[in-house]
Amino acid sequence: MNWKAFFTAALMGLAAAGLVPLQRASADPLLERGRYLMEGIVACGNCHTPKAADGTPIADKELAGGFAIDAPIFHAVASNITPDKETGIGNWTDAEIIDAIRNGKRPDGSIIGPPMPIAFYRGMSDSDVKAIVAYLRQVKPVSNKVEKSVYKIPLPEAYGPPVTSVADVPHDDKVAYGAYLATGLGHCMDCHTPLVQGRNDMTRLGAGGNEFGMPDGVVITSANLTPANKNGIVGWTDVQLVTALKSGQRPNGSHIVPLMAFGWYKNINDADYAALVTFLRDLKPVE
Ligand code: HEC
Ligand code: HEC
Repeated sequence: MNWKAFFTAALMGLAAAGLVPLQRASADPLLERGRYLMEGIVACGNCHTPKAADGTPIADKELAGGFAIDAPIFHAVASNITPDKETGIGNWTDAEIIDAIRNGKRPDGSIIGPPMPIAFYRGMSDSDVKAIVAYLRQVKPVSNKVEKSVYKIPLPEAYGPPVTSVADVPHDDKVAYGAYLATGLGHCMDCHTPLVQGRNDMTRLGAGGNEFGMPDGVVITSANLTPANKNGIVGWTDVQLVTALKSGQRPNGSHIVPLMAFGWYKNINDADYAALVTFLRDLKPVE
């Protein structure tokens, strides 16, 4: 046995014994950032990964689409965003994928409809959106032809002037970075800010009150996260708030419905939670 083979064999033995961590698939910082975002705050998979009957995402169908979301004005079906060339986005360029995420436009010029939170993703920074594309490129291609969404309202011609460049938000500015986590990356404020004629009323940021029809026919209302809600998060400690976001369990033991992406939010790191909590505590009271 030559030395190289010996070392390889020895290392493999150690790795099998769990002593040497096998190298991660990539040490590319862009892909690592993409992985962190996609497995955490961004959670595209909460809509784009099909779920089993018990609500758990189907691992080998990551981002393969087909999950239907119904509202009075649409029957939306999340697209297959795996790199499959026929049924996914394998033929799109990086710039085309970025255009789809931030401008809601497909390469053929058609508009992506709700509830994909385009209005929020417009605020995603260039480096973060590129990191997400890097992640999307290495997802397993899954052949899954998805039925077309049906909209009872005309879709807008555009979501605003084309977004071409968005600067990074400094991570050490906790309020600003927390706001970025809750809007551009995590779209918390999409569900938690009142809708007026289909648009979020940003003057009432975080005031809740939006209704969501669940598959079992129950309608739930998003919580008012501002300090005006005396029964809400003002009465929770920071630890209780983070625990609720990671596990879906409120301090009183009740469960928040799994419409929120708890399976993903549990992977958000402490520094990002500190920023998110700072931002939520800073919301102005709105009845
Ligand atoms: C709240 C649910 C939701 C979230 C979160 C979401 N999407 Fe979507 N997305 C959809 C729906 C529904 C469609 C299909 C809309 C239509 O038919 O017009 C869609 C369409 C798309 C398309 C168009 C694909 C095609 O072939 O038409 C892309 C690309 C896409 N999403 C990427 C993403 C990425 C990347 C993320 C995370 C950064 C994300 N989406 C987060 C619901 C969502
Ligand atoms: C897809 C829509 C949606 C998204 C995205 C979302 N939420 Fe929620 N959230 C809800 C709904 C609906 C409820 C109320 C659930 C219930 O009554 O069980 C809720 C409940 C909560 C609660 C419990 C509040 C209370 O007073 O009981 C907190 C805290 C919360 N959300 C914070 C967040 C944060 C922070 C984010 C982003 C990281 C987020 N949410 C993203 C829809 C959403």
